[in-house]
Amino acid sequence: MFLMKIGFIGGGHVAQILAAMFIKAGHSIVLTNKHGLDRLEPVIKRLGSKAEAGNLAEVARQDLVVLAVPYKAVFELDEDLLKNKAVIDATNYFPHRDGEFEEVSNHKLASSQLVAQHFIGSKVVKAFNTIPVANLKSLSSDASEDKQIAIPIAGDVEVKDTAEKLIKQIGFVPYDVGDLKESIKFQSDTPLFLFSGDRKSLANKFVQK
Ligand SMILES: NC(=O)c1ccc[n+]([C@@H]2O[C@H](COP(=O)([O-])OP(=O)(O)OC[C@H]3O[C@@H](n4cnc5c(N)ncnc54)[C@H](OP(=O)(O)O)[C@@H]3O)[C@@H](O)[C@H]2O)c1
Repeated sequence: MFLMKIGFIGGGHVAQILAAMFIKAGHSIVLTNKHGLDRLEPVIKRLGSKAEAGNLAEVARQDLVVLAVPYKAVFELDEDLLKNKAVIDATNYFPHRDGEFEEVSNHKLASSQLVAQHFIGSKVVKAFNTIPVANLKSLSSDASEDKQIAIPIAGDVEVKDTAEKLIKQIGFVPYDVGDLKESIKFQSDTPLFLFSGDRKSLANKFVQK
């Protein structure tokens, strides 16, 4: 049985919706936020007994950590927080919101590569950044893989294997784009951003790019 303890850095839209879907698949989750764990009480109540709020250290102790904060907030976190940890980076970089990150703006680095560089010794995969989370539940389906919505992922091979299992469990099909530098192809300044389609149409979109 594939059951994990999944920590979320962030307790907003992305964290809440993914947490609900992961809990439905049987996993346990820990959420954290910036402005006080008491604010998460109604969220935890809604998510049920497999959810709890915790501090950053508690979140970082889970089997897998999902980054679900504004991009700039990543760089306020301790660089040793996620040493040897499996990490899914669901963030998107928006210069108007996050400020200037020169290497990302000028495409020297994928936004997730800078995240991986920040967290010393982390094993990072980018996933779940392209589809607005408000649409995730309605787009998930138990149809055959060729009909399901494909979710692009890129990064660490071992963590990709875990991310792929999670993606399948919540009713999507993973689309492996390669290593972390390849995630530049589906970050927020690309035509892949906000695109949702099956594996074939996603593949076509990458070719057209
Ligand atoms: N919304 C979408 O559809 C979507 C889809 C894919 C990817 N994304 C990306 O995913 C990320 C999160 O988006 P969102 O819509 O979930 O944002 P959101 O609803 O604004 O939630 C952000 C969360 O991050 C927390 N946070 C901020 N700084 C933090 C820190 N230093 N330590 C711990 N927690 C911190 C906030 O805590 P407080 O609540 O205490 O302020 C809040 O819970 C963004 O990078 C976004 O671009 C969004």
